Amino acid sequence: MPARAKVTGIRDPRGPDHGRLSALAVTAGVLLATGVAGAGALPHRVADLAAAASARHHRHRRVLLSGRLADASGTRAARQTRLSGVEKPNSPSCERNRDPILAVLRQHFADRQRVLEIGSGTGQHAVYFAGAMPQLSWQCSDRAENLPGIRLWLEEAALPNTPEPLELDVGGHWPAQRYDAVFSANTLHIMAWDEVEALFAHLPRITTGDAQLAIYGPFNYDGRYTSDSNAAFDEWLKARGAHMGIRDAAEVDALATKSGFDLIADIAMPANNRCRIWQRR
Ligand SMILES: C[S@@+](CC[C@H](N)C(=O)[O-])C[C@H]1O[C@@H](n2cnc3c(N)ncnc32)[C@H](O)[C@@H]1O
Repeated sequence: MPARAKVTGIRDPRGPDHGRLSALAVTAGVLLATGVAGAGALPHRVADLAAAASARHHRHRRVLLSGRLADASGTRAARQTRLSGVEKPNSPSCERNRDPILAVLRQHFADRQRVLEIGSGTGQHAVYFAGAMPQLSWQCSDRAENLPGIRLWLEEAALPNTPEPLELDVGGHWPAQRYDAVFSANTLHIMAWDEVEALFAHLPRITTGDAQLAIYGPFNYDGRYTSDSNAAFDEWLKARGAHMGIRDAAEVDALATKSGFDLIADIAMPANNRCRIWQRR
């Protein structure tokens, strides 16, 4: 990673295994229960995970992977509550990672005003971060299918600083507004690589001259996984869709550099994730 990057670490205050076993049961159970994919179409690994939820056997690797599955499943595989005829999504992983991410945003977005979130998923992060940082206008965006769920979260929270979510597929039409901050969590490994390229290519057009970019999620370094759980997660992703996969930090940095953004911080987060911050030059 570039010499300028500040590398720091954040410990999970709840301990390394906190909540993961129950999350495993929830996630695997939800995948089965919500019919996201029919049980027969579920990857064997997920069926294994469901069966292993209450077992100690091979606990470590599977339990670590459970958090990853929750992250990957995002909106669709998350627990859903039927509310007023609309499915209200709920992502357990957002509940787990929101405080460590907020700690980073409090530091790096303290002087920001207008944040564009790409791939808001459920909208839970938006509600939490916008509520904690009322000086920000937090603009959610995602593909069309996720907007009703995001709207439910925003309407319930009724915050003054979360405008109507925008439909934004990074490979399609982008908003005309400019933002002094862009945030995205757990998206680069879900998007196809050409979509990741499109995201970075559009940044100069939608950001102000002093903008910051914060991206949370798993990254590889020098072509290597940072943990066994990330390797297992990558295998699971690729089995689910060949276009998905954990991105190499240097390849993402190259896209950022081309778009005029320099890496200024690379922060270790719980569960082998990173929060990487770039500054527009
Ligand atoms: C794993 S979910 C993460 C959701 C949320 N950010 C979180 O951390 O819980 C991945 C998100 O990326 C979004 N996404 C995938 N491809 C996208 C694209 N081409 N353009 C915009 N969003 C995309 C999905 O709709 C989904 O909301």
